[in-house]
Amino acid sequence: MTTADFIHRFQPAETRDAAALLLLHGTGGDENDLLPIGPMIAPGAALLSPRGKVLEGGMPRFFRRLAEGVFDHADVERRTEELADFTAAMRAQHDLPLPVAVGFSNGANIAAALLHLRPEVLGGAILFRAMVPLPYPPRADLSGKRVLIVSGAMDPIIPAENAAALADSLRSAGADVRHEILPTGHGLTRTDIDIAREWMQA
Ligand code: MLT
Repeated sequence: MTTADFIHRFQPAETRDAAALLLLHGTGGDENDLLPIGPMIAPGAALLSPRGKVLEGGMPRFFRRLAEGVFDHADVERRTEELADFTAAMRAQHDLPLPVAVGFSNGANIAAALLHLRPEVLGGAILFRAMVPLPYPPRADLSGKRVLIVSGAMDPIIPAENAAALADSLRSAGADVRHEILPTGHGLTRTDIDIAREWMQA
């Protein structure tokens, strides 16, 4: 596995002890999408932003789905392993601290899969509009990992009970989970960013 394996953008940290963020875009996005919000969430952080390798009608994603909300679980597992290897290789190459994933929608779902399958590559995760990526994830030890899930009460794509089930499964694996539900839909809002920045600083 080489680091060239994902098209990506990398921005080094501005200060020596700054955090690192792994930015994971939503369906139809790319490596440029979340770069502007990285500094809003963690000023000065190193930013690693890969592009999902799956194309759905020309739209990049991080794993295949059979229909909206119906995932190809074998592909989720395979793509999660690839992304984990890429993240670990980039971390070694650039001498980064354990990154905090910041994922939106499909990007949040693969970040959740990383927590279940390859928890050693992440320090924590911010999951905007996430849902359960795998019905029966292997038992992971997430103790010491902080996870922020921000859901939308009017999200037409993600049922509230599905986001709650994700929070429960991460909690039962030992993660320190905060789950916020905003009075909004699927799109990101200013409040999402404010909550994430405050959570990063805590
Ligand atoms: C997914 O496919 O990961 C979720 O349904 C969210 C989306 O990307 O639309």
